[in-house]
Amino acid sequence: MQGKKVIITGVPGVGKTTVINEALKTLKTEGVEYQSINFGSFMFEVAKKDNIVRDRDQMRTLDRAVQKRLQQRAAQAIAQVSGNVLIDTHASVKTPKGYLAGLPEWVLREIMPDIIVLVETDNDQILMRRLTDETRSRDKEGSRSIAEHQEFNRSIAAAYAMMTGCTIKMITNADFLLDRSVSELTDILR
Ligand code: AP5
Repeated sequence: MQGKKVIITGVPGVGKTTVINEALKTLKTEGVEYQSINFGSFMFEVAKKDNIVRDRDQMRTLDRAVQKRLQQRAAQAIAQVSGNVLIDTHASVKTPKGYLAGLPEWVLREIMPDIIVLVETDNDQILMRRLTDETRSRDKEGSRSIAEHQEFNRSIAAAYAMMTGCTIKMITNADFLLDRSVSELTDILR
């Protein structure tokens, strides 16, 4: 049976993984199952095997052609997964040489999502979440730069909708209101 394919995006530290995990817990109690896939983890496994990075945060500094190759291999592997699939990834990746499309044509052609979700919140909240997360090597950037990245993601998502016919849904994951964003995502995934 053809399942639903949902892509969840958001700038680093916006809390997309947190929202996904909570939504999947709720859905499980209702008997709705999703295969949850982290696109970056697929890329990282290949990059580690090829000995080109030590941690996942290094991937966005790799040469564009290398990132593209990793993207392609991840998309091809993910396309093989059947049933309801939820893919945790990025609408765009901020590299030292500019924004790299996270879902270019060669990725979308493989996955053909039904919905792309943009998880967003206030730029200052994202900045604070990044500053307090000691487990990752987050990019050092101010809230104006985070705002630019969130705006760019909306623009590029429009292009993805044009290419695939998918819908685009924005979800706000505000401080102290995690329940609200989880409930919105759960409704989409049901
Ligand atoms: P990825 O693994 O996706 O890393 P990331 O972008 O850093 O995302 P995280 O999962 O770390 O952050 P998050 O937004 O999910 O936030 P979290 O839930 O942890 O990607 C890694 C790399 O892979 C990329 O850099 C890129 O190189 C590569 N990649 C991936 N996809 C790609 C693609 N398509 N093309 C090319 N490259 C690709 O939460 C953060 C913090 O906020 C936590 O402390 C949490 O407790 C807190 N928090 C969350 N929600 C709330 C709330 N409502 N209130 C208060 N605190 C909250």
